[in-house]
Amino acid sequence: MSKHFEIIVGTMLGASEYVADAIAEKLEAKGYTHTIHIEPNLDNIKTDNTWVICTSTHGAGELPDNIQPFAAQLVGADLSSVNAYVIGLGDTSYDTFCFGAKEIEKLITENNGKLKADAYYIDVLEHPIPEDAAVEWFDDILANA
Ligand SMILES: Cc1cc2nc3c(=O)[nH]c(=O)nc-3n(C[C@H](O)[C@H](O)[C@H](O)COP(=O)(O)O)c2cc1C
Repeated sequence: MSKHFEIIVGTMLGASEYVADAIAEKLEAKGYTHTIHIEPNLDNIKTDNTWVICTSTHGAGELPDNIQPFAAQLVGADLSSVNAYVIGLGDTSYDTFCFGAKEIEKLITENNGKLKADAYYIDVLEHPIPEDAAVEWFDDILANA
């Protein structure tokens, strides 16, 4: 676990940004530092820092517009030093539940990056305040790191 975290956000309506902010607060409380990337660009994101990617899904199972250029940058990139956590926000009434987060996971592992834990998919129908669920999950992650 690096001291500095890169928090990468994929959001259309802002819910994933709230999740990212809550994760950032938790990291600060535990003595870690972080950068939140609302317009993520691989050129400004260090691959040897731990990544936390918080992304929703929109359209018919697509990544939000703001994270699509970053996803494209991951194709063929050398991610061999990447250790990442993925938090997906979605809605189980879509049969493409959390496909955006799943696409990011695939891009990371296909390009030799590592997922430090199984992705955490948050169903916003079940968790109307998704950041609460995310922080609870992340607390366990940090406790066992
Ligand atoms: C137009 C639209 C399309 C959506 N499509 C999906 C989808 O395909 N799969 C899914 O899991 N959730 C889908 N959702 C649910 C969003 O991912 C969910 O509301 C999420 O909390 C939005 O987070 P955001 O504000 O960070 O974008 C959709 C929501 C909207 C409004």
